[in-house]
This record gives sequence, structure tokens and C-alpha cells, in this order.
Amino acid sequence: MTGKRILIAGCGRLGTRLGTALNQAGAEVHGLRRHPRHLPAGITPLAADLLADPDLSDRLPPGLDQVYYILTPQTTDDAGYKAAFVTGLTRLLEALSASGNAHARVIFVSSTGVYGQDQGEWVDEASVTEPTRFSGRRLLEAETCLRRHPGVSVVVRFAGIYGPERDSLVRRVRSGRPCTDPPPRYTNRIHEDDCIGVLRHVGQLAAPAPLYIGVDDAPCTQCEVMDWLASALGQQPPRRTPGGTQSGRRCLNQRLRASGYRFRYPSYRQGYQRLVRAGV
Ligand SMILES: NC(=O)c1ccc[n+]([C@@H]2O[C@H](COP(=O)([O-])OP(=O)(O)OC[C@H]3O[C@@H](n4cnc5c(N)ncnc54)[C@H](OP(=O)(O)O)[C@@H]3O)[C@@H](O)[C@H]2O)c1
Repeated sequence: MTGKRILIAGCGRLGTRLGTALNQAGAEVHGLRRHPRHLPAGITPLAADLLADPDLSDRLPPGLDQVYYILTPQTTDDAGYKAAFVTGLTRLLEALSASGNAHARVIFVSSTGVYGQDQGEWVDEASVTEPTRFSGRRLLEAETCLRRHPGVSVVVRFAGIYGPERDSLVRRVRSGRPCTDPPPRYTNRIHEDDCIGVLRHVGQLAAPAPLYIGVDDAPCTQCEVMDWLASALGQQPPRRTPGGTQSGRRCLNQRLRASGYRFRYPSYRQGYQRLVRAGV
């Protein structure tokens, strides 16, 4: 990492943790967001609005080696997703080109929401993507935009991110809320620490694939995770409630593993055990 110059566009929770780790490994890290004043030392703040600011190219550092794109939409509707993922990424790619950074490696954080499979199917990077929701459709559109980048580009499709401040499922179990069954609802997860690990890993690979699914080894039903959590918390298993016809999919991480990534938390058991012990 020493000597690498890295831009994190959308330097929020993941970006700040990633940027800090990269800086500690010797990289020069720039964090772009609209309100960057609280970024920690080690990340050079770059105040910019990817959707509104003119002349982004004048403000990007020269000689970028890597660019991470980790935005969240302002609104959870089609317009918000289009703006954050399609418009924002397109504008950043244009600015990279105009600023002499066309050959930086661009790593785009996407989601397994691009898959439409909803009957518990197993999916991997070769599986068909026919999203049924606007969010998946806009992310897929952004992934397509990324393919026009002349440098190396990598898409990472994360599933449900959990961790110390992403503990809604623990709170759900604590409060005695039910889990959905029938039908069994399949879910996929990744611990936030592994998100950071995966993003660093694909940034360093000599010849990365264009696409990785970022999930742990343990896709399973929502009830399985909630039963396990209830047991770890010393509670009764949650009640079951019927949940319509949709039942999710099961995502495979073989490509990521084959590329050499080793999970810190290979399943929800290790990840949530730590959270439960920490009293989350
Ligand atoms: N949560 C999940 O389970 C899940 C699952 C799959 C994928 N993902 C993806 O994982 C990522 C989560 O990242 P995160 O937790 O780090 O999100 P985050 O904390 O919300 O960070 C995103 C940052 O983007 C910045 N931003 C938003 N609009 C901007 C704009 N127009 N111009 C410049 N910066 C802008 C925001 O900062 P300012 O407000 O200061 O601009 C914010 O800090 C997202 O890409 C999400 O789609 C999440």
C-alpha cells in the first residue's frame, strides 16, 4: 500500500474504516463526501457533492491508483437510487477521465439485490440478474456504466451488512418479535469487518475478476439466525409468522474465497457471538 494514492467517494461508515486501514498500511487516502469535516486524521477531506458540483475533475487528486465508490442514496426510491448510483458514478468516471485518472482501478460497492431469484435458489457471479425491485435495477445499471471505465474495474455485491452499529436483528430478537416462516425466508450476510477486508483484498489483487459476491459462508433462513440469536441471548426461540410467497436466495462466495480472501467471521455464529458477548 505504501505510496498508493486512493480516493474513497462516499467516505461514510465503511469508507472511513477502510480509509483508516489503508492509511495505516501506508496509502495516501482522500475521502470525498458532502460533509467531510469529521473524517479522522489520515484521510484527507474532499468536500464535494457528486450529484451537484460542477468541475469535479478540477478537484480530484492526480495520479490516483484506486477509487472506491461507496455511496448510499439520499432517498430510498427510484430517483434516489438513480441519482446515487447511476448519475453519481457516471459523473465520477467522467471526472476521473478528465483529470488524467482514467486508469485508476475503480471498485464499486453494489448489492446482491441485483438478483431476482426468490425461491431459495443458489446464486453466484454467473447467475442471471433480473431484479424485481427498482433498487436492484438501478444498481445493475450502474454496474453496466462501470464497464465503460478504461481502467480495471471491480464490482463487489454485498448482502446484509451487520456489526456493532448494525445490530437490528439482535434488537429484533431481544424484543421478542417473530421470524417469518412459512415460507422459509433465505437471507445472506457479511460482517462489517469483512466488508472492509474484502474491499482491501480486491484493491490489492494483481488480476481481480470484474465481479465478486461479498457474503459469508452461511446463507440460511431468517429463522435459523434468529433461533441461534435467541439461544445465545438466553431467550425462547422466536414465534413463526407466515410471510407470503417470497423466500429469498442463497448467495455463494466461492469466487471470493478462491481469490484468497479469508473471512474473519465465516458465519453469523462467529460474528454475532462477538456482538452478543459485547452486550449489543
Ligand atoms: N446495509 C446493507 O446491508 C448493504 C447491503 C448491500 C450493499 N450495501 C451498500 O454498502 C454501502 C454502505 O456504505 P456505508 O455504510 O459506508 O454508507 P454511509 O455511511 O451512508 O456512507 C455513504 C456516504 O456517502 C456520502 N454521500 C451521499 N451522497 C453523496 C453525494 N451526492 N456526494 C458525495 N458524497 C455523498 C455520505 O456523506 P455526506 O452525507 O457527507 O455526503 C455518506 O457518508 C452502500 O453503498 C450500500 O449501497 C449495503
